[in-house]
Amino acid sequence: MAMGILRRVVSRVSSSPASMLIRIRAHASEAQAQQVQPTARDATTFKTFQIYRWNPDNPSKPELQEYQINLKECGPMVLDALIKIKNEIDPTLTFRRSCREGICGSCAMNIDGCNGLACLTKIPSGAPTTITPLPHMYVIKDLVVDMTNFYNQYKSIEPWLKRKNSPPVPGKEIPQSKKDRAMLDGMYECILCACCSTSCPSYWWNPESYLGPAALLHANRWISDSRDEYTAERLEAINDEFKLFRCHTILNCSRACPKGLNPGNKIQNIKLLQMGRGLVAKA
Ligand code: SF4
Ligand code: SF4
Ligand code: FES
Repeated sequence: MAMGILRRVVSRVSSSPASMLIRIRAHASEAQAQQVQPTARDATTFKTFQIYRWNPDNPSKPELQEYQINLKECGPMVLDALIKIKNEIDPTLTFRRSCREGICGSCAMNIDGCNGLACLTKIPSGAPTTITPLPHMYVIKDLVVDMTNFYNQYKSIEPWLKRKNSPPVPGKEIPQSKKDRAMLDGMYECILCACCSTSCPSYWWNPESYLGPAALLHANRWISDSRDEYTAERLEAINDEFKLFRCHTILNCSRACPKGLNPGNKIQNIKLLQMGRGLVAKA
């Protein structure tokens, strides 16, 4: 693990009226001119965001920094607010984003206690909104977490088609019936955002040894693929007390998925397959 990366710890700002004043960090002094006393503002127009800050180049204790923005001059989503803050108030604020439409998975973060995609989450009305990195991940900077372990776990399930025989027609695609193709629904849509895995208590406590719901959903995706010929080997590879059976079917993962997928249910299918009772497309 690279130096300077630290587990997420949140020190909350005071909820006293004084906390409504904008806290200007030393490294963001250029923002000072654009900040206005919130007491002078229309509460329905202005919104306060409390955002987790931690800078590896100045590794003091992490803190929540407050920003206020005018909602009339901002798009409707949390990502719009983050981009506005970065563009107009504090260019040092660091977060990932790319597609702005729930496709790339890069803007996953914790918004008011729930994991989600900032680009698909509407700015909540009313009370200040707290934004922190995905839980129980090493923080690289501000809202950016280290996804190395998560991606390595995904890689470990060998997420590609594996065959023992040549395709029926060499050089051509391997056909699949509509029914077999439908077996992949609810899995191929995963965008690897990690909202599910980082909401899973078992993953929090065993992040190195438990594969977590995202990697297991993908394991089930390839196990269920009628064109793949390594079903038994794939099942055997994850038939492990930690890799698979740390899942206790609490289903936090399914509640957290911003794409409406149900990884907990797919893990259950793998467990049933281990007992010879699950669903696979092939005979
Ligand atoms: S169902 Fe399994 S993977 Fe999902 S949150 Fe619970 S323990 Fe984690
Ligand atoms: S299953 Fe859902 S929450 Fe989990 S990584 Fe895929 S898209 Fe994200
Ligand atoms: S920016 Fe791509 S999913 Fe949010």
